[in-house]
Amino acid sequence: MFDIPTDVADSIVFLNGSFLRMDEARVPVLDRGFIFGDGVYEVVPVYARRPFRLQEHLRRLQYSLDQIRLANPYADQEWSRLILELIARCPHADQGLYLQVTRGVAKRDHAFPKGAKPTVFMMTNALSTPSPEAVANGVAAITAADNRWLRCDIKSIALLGNVLMRQLAVEAGANETIMIRDGWLTEGSASNVFLVRNGVILAPPKSNLILPGTTYDVVLELAAKAGMPVEVRPVSEAELRDADELWLTSATREVLAVNSLDGKPVGGGAPGPVFRRMYALFRDFKKELAGGAPTHA
Ligand code: PDD
Repeated sequence: MFDIPTDVADSIVFLNGSFLRMDEARVPVLDRGFIFGDGVYEVVPVYARRPFRLQEHLRRLQYSLDQIRLANPYADQEWSRLILELIARCPHADQGLYLQVTRGVAKRDHAFPKGAKPTVFMMTNALSTPSPEAVANGVAAITAADNRWLRCDIKSIALLGNVLMRQLAVEAGANETIMIRDGWLTEGSASNVFLVRNGVILAPPKSNLILPGTTYDVVLELAAKAGMPVEVRPVSEAELRDADELWLTSATREVLAVNSLDGKPVGGGAPGPVFRRMYALFRDFKKELAGGAPTHA
């Protein structure tokens, strides 16, 4: 028997067409996800049993699959149906839903196998978002040189670079590692990064060097709707180190303020006024969704 953590052992997962208990799900050792990290994934937040921005997540999944040249095993409607079924089988109203597609099981050879069937796995558990204290006070971050590959736009399950970055943060007692490549801000180990300087929200543009975040898009949309000044353009390391405010965004962190960078206070060392406004907009946007009809792709 495998040692599945007891708090999730009896949760229901989806594997290749079946719903089963987590501790009964099995993947062959020759799965290319296990051997090569040859697959892509998504993390979808679920509020009040409604998947947040599902269409956008499915669109990004399609993009990642296209980039690794793997056929999408399901049409969006089928994904949507399976996702809603998995959500219904979880006891929690707010969930973090994880899905991954790998290139399937084949004899070990780097080249794409012929005729392998993609492996599709999904799990969903209670959503873990930042604590009220973290939202109120902000969190610490450190910086590191971005030494990952040049296709960070693909949501690949091969996350060793990101894992090593995140561990640096843990060992420094920080929440996140913010990466810099050749003097320019890229992103966090598992988040996008926004700055505020002189009342203007700054964000690095989408490129092959960052993941096109779904929360990043939400923040930009909310800022535009509220008439908040925004500039999407390359952000230098000097600007990062001299920001009035710094925020992290992701499906699970939502919008979270950074209060110190490499041990130095960011702005006043506490979440700033622009963050507080954006956080309120984000919270209202989520509430609107929770009151609406279930989201379908
Ligand atoms: N990570 N950049 C990286 C490297 C990420 O891993 C993530 C999300 C983001 C933010 O994307 P989004 O807003 O769509 O969550 C940016 C997820 C949450 C994870 O790997 O757990």
